[in-house]
Amino acid sequence: MKRSLSGIQPSGTLHLGNYFGAMKQFIENQDKVEGFYFVADYHSLTSLTDPELLRESTRNIILDYLALGLDPEKSTLFLQSDVPEHVELSWLLSNVTPVGLMERGHSYKDKIAKGFFPNTGLLTYPILMTADILIYDSDIVPVGKDQKQHLEFARDIAMKFNQQYKVDFFKLPEPMILESVAVVPGTDGQKMSKSYGNVINMFAPKNVLKKQVMSIVTDSTPLEEPKDPNNNITALYRLFATKEQVKEMEDKFMAGNYGYGHAKKELLEAILSYFEEARARREELAKNPELVDEILRKGAEKARAIASKKIAEAKKIVGLMGNIYR
Ligand code: ADP
Ligand code: TRP
Repeated sequence: MKRSLSGIQPSGTLHLGNYFGAMKQFIENQDKVEGFYFVADYHSLTSLTDPELLRESTRNIILDYLALGLDPEKSTLFLQSDVPEHVELSWLLSNVTPVGLMERGHSYKDKIAKGFFPNTGLLTYPILMTADILIYDSDIVPVGKDQKQHLEFARDIAMKFNQQYKVDFFKLPEPMILESVAVVPGTDGQKMSKSYGNVINMFAPKNVLKKQVMSIVTDSTPLEEPKDPNNNITALYRLFATKEQVKEMEDKFMAGNYGYGHAKKELLEAILSYFEEARARREELAKNPELVDEILRKGAEKARAIASKKIAEAKKIVGLMGNIYR
């Protein structure tokens, strides 16, 4: 079975774009791959400086994943910071990585341009990400398009290490860029993204969710008149409804006497019914922090068993004499 690994940064609450664009694939593939999914909490330190917010977002993202159906019996779910071997490997890798490579990073340059404090962690972020991937001999790495360059870096760094030490030690990971998935539009019709403030959060309280749905931008065609069936509401409704239901909504728009408000209500119902079970499960899980801790503990144990072997071999290859892992 191929090993699939991906990291998720704990930033902000998850929205429909994250679910349909990424998480759904992880969850649906659980029986086909050996999945390793972790919260990239070390990575988030490069830009998140509020400890309480980091703790809260970490817990939330784990609850979201479990509620949406990620099964800890099938996939390994853990926190990056519970497997310190990632950081150890990133130090070894940093010595075969040219500074120029990191300086070419799109994500690094974007963040600096956006005014983030240019700390060294932000620059060497891709080396830690490479370590995350290589330490498990990962075969595939499903990520969004924005991570494509980071995966190229990972392959480059793996090759450089193998060449420098004349070994065939690190497996070159295959990126699985999730671009086949249509971009989920936000309430304003642009790509749904937390940085555009146009999201719909499936786990928000009902009143918040309702507000988000009601804020979907439409034109001002009067109620009785026919309307364009290709609008921001039907674009989202398609994610939840059957073909027949979508056609029904489109017909109603074209016939007139059907307002955007009506359609938004139907969309809201559809979202609530689609996520009904997950929302209930999340509430239950949130009441039981010990269970979540136990899942993370077991996940870290499983991950560490693999990571500690790989780092011990890597240390031997580069000539380190220490033997605490042997
Ligand atoms: P955001 O844009 O809200 O900051 P992230 O960059 O954290 O979202 O994205 C996390 C994952 O969710 C990525 O794999 C990305 O491809 C996916 N994703 C985010 N927004 C969308 C969207 N609107 N449509 C499809 N996939 C998305
Ligand atoms: N950089 C990734 C992102 O922002 C998160 C990440 C960290 C990751 N380590 C990883 C993704 C290893 C895949 C594999 O989305």
